Amino acid sequence: MCGIIGYLGNHEAAPFLLDALRRLEYRGYDSAGIATLNHGKLDRRRAVGKLVNLADLLVHEPLPGKAGIGHTRWATHGAPTVPNAHPHRAGRVAVVHNGIIENFRELRAELAEAGVPFQTETDTETVALLANHLMEGGMGPVEAVTEVLHRIEGAYGLLFLFDGEEDLMIAARKGSPLAVGYGVGENFVGSDAIALAPLTDRITYLEEGDMAVVTRSSVEIRDAAGQLANREIKTIRIDSARVDKAGHKHFMAKEIAEQPKVIGDALRHYLTPDSAAITLPGEGVDFTKVNRLLLVACGTAYYACLTAKYWFEQIAQLPVEVDIASEFRYREPPITEGTLALFVSQSGETADTLAALRYCKGKAARILSVVNVAESSIARESDLALPILAGAEIGVASTKAFSCQLTVLLILALEAARQRGAISAEKLTELLGALQGLPALFNAAMDSNALTESISADLSEVSDVLFLGRGRMYPLALEGALKMKELSYIHAEAYASGELKHGPIALIDSHLPVVVMAPRDSLFDKTISNMQEVMARAGKVLLISDAAGIAEAGDGVWQSVEMPTVAPELAPILYALPAQLLAYHTAVAKGTDVDQPRNLAKSVTVE
Ligand code: M6R
Repeated sequence: MCGIIGYLGNHEAAPFLLDALRRLEYRGYDSAGIATLNHGKLDRRRAVGKLVNLADLLVHEPLPGKAGIGHTRWATHGAPTVPNAHPHRAGRVAVVHNGIIENFRELRAELAEAGVPFQTETDTETVALLANHLMEGGMGPVEAVTEVLHRIEGAYGLLFLFDGEEDLMIAARKGSPLAVGYGVGENFVGSDAIALAPLTDRITYLEEGDMAVVTRSSVEIRDAAGQLANREIKTIRIDSARVDKAGHKHFMAKEIAEQPKVIGDALRHYLTPDSAAITLPGEGVDFTKVNRLLLVACGTAYYACLTAKYWFEQIAQLPVEVDIASEFRYREPPITEGTLALFVSQSGETADTLAALRYCKGKAARILSVVNVAESSIARESDLALPILAGAEIGVASTKAFSCQLTVLLILALEAARQRGAISAEKLTELLGALQGLPALFNAAMDSNALTESISADLSEVSDVLFLGRGRMYPLALEGALKMKELSYIHAEAYASGELKHGPIALIDSHLPVVVMAPRDSLFDKTISNMQEVMARAGKVLLISDAAGIAEAGDGVWQSVEMPTVAPELAPILYALPAQLLAYHTAVAKGTDVDQPRNLAKSVTVE
């Protein structure tokens, strides 16, 4: 949600800022802007829509200067217009912001009373106006920002630049991630390591409440209490090349295709080379002391948790509760003794998931997370963070992160089953062996790409799609529907197939495609009965199954997509692929913006 970048050095700032904003555009693309200091004089350029519009503007109206801040926006307060675009400027102050200032109305009223005029509908402008107002009252930049931070409430990553202060940039973080990057005679600030990686490999992640005073030759960090803080400088190894499309038309296509490799990476990390045993990092987890597992996440990561519930309950005999983070955090659920709380997040920065984690801290036996971004807030605030090793995921729709989350969660469920004596040695060996075969099955399943593309041409013409699944395939049906709607803007819903006759069957007619995800497993006959109920009402069924399933039940369906035969426990991971391909090709056929669907952002760091 909004990307921030800052540069203070001896080169022209604008090209650095623009390049970094390209890497941050996945965080928001409603508008973009930069401000620079040219011989102490502050100026800015802003444009609505994609970054390319700002780049065009800069060609016609260049912005010189060797210090600058930049922003790519996901709108919260105020429409995506030029006046509402960041950087916001008030007098001597320019600021970019990620987050929400919750008490901006009170501050606005106070400033209005003091005769300060407003030009935008944003919460962020209040920050610039307040800082400038304080400076007009005689404060210096550091003193003014310190006071602003005392006055504002809410979540923020903030970065300030000041007219007349050629060698100063001030960053502050509370609730939204921010990192300082160290160079030689130059320093940087950015929302994440992806933004900073090509600029420097030495990074400090600011902690909650930190304020950093940055010059070309120094970085001074103070904690929330105003004390000098000695934060660790980490050496990062993010290869900037990883954020290109590697010849694919879209990041999403690249990330779908990468799944065999990244699932293989995750397997190598968690299984011994002979696949005989599971190795968890650090102290691991003692599941014998756990009597209840709590899984909390948002969006696709939530559907990974729903799938994991089936694994932990069926294979490990461990009771599981799954919750949407935005609901969990305000419900004040009791956390009983012996509860293990597990949070799943690709970005590791999702505001609701992070708040849910903080709610559980000190209450749950232990806090675990399954994350992609290893240095994220959720990873850092967990007792044990389990990386999914999916690599940078740039497409807003989560694909490879989902299949890697599932892989790691299944491994964890198997480890829980082993420790709790809920699985026989033979069954464990069988499933670990099956897991090792998963990358090859993903490769084989890619054979369905051309067929899903031609089916998607038809899907792109419809206005609604229904997804059905039973048992472990039900969460995958939900994920398939989410992918379809967020990418193609086609209304898609998912139901547990047994629920069909309790209402949704009224929707069935010859115009509604119904995607049935049903490997030939122990629940197959039941799902197929539900599918027959759809076809008996002229419903148009797309059956996704294996060869045995299609041979047995494929008669009369509109289309069938064949998946390789897979161990039933692993089917939700493999069947993620056709769900992703259907959504991807439907979006391409409709001409929507695949990597940056409207209204969305990759990293949701606001509520
Ligand atoms: O970074 P997170 O995994 O915490 O993000 C959670 C959701 O915002 C995310 O999965 C979202 O639903 C994706 N757009 C789905 O494709």
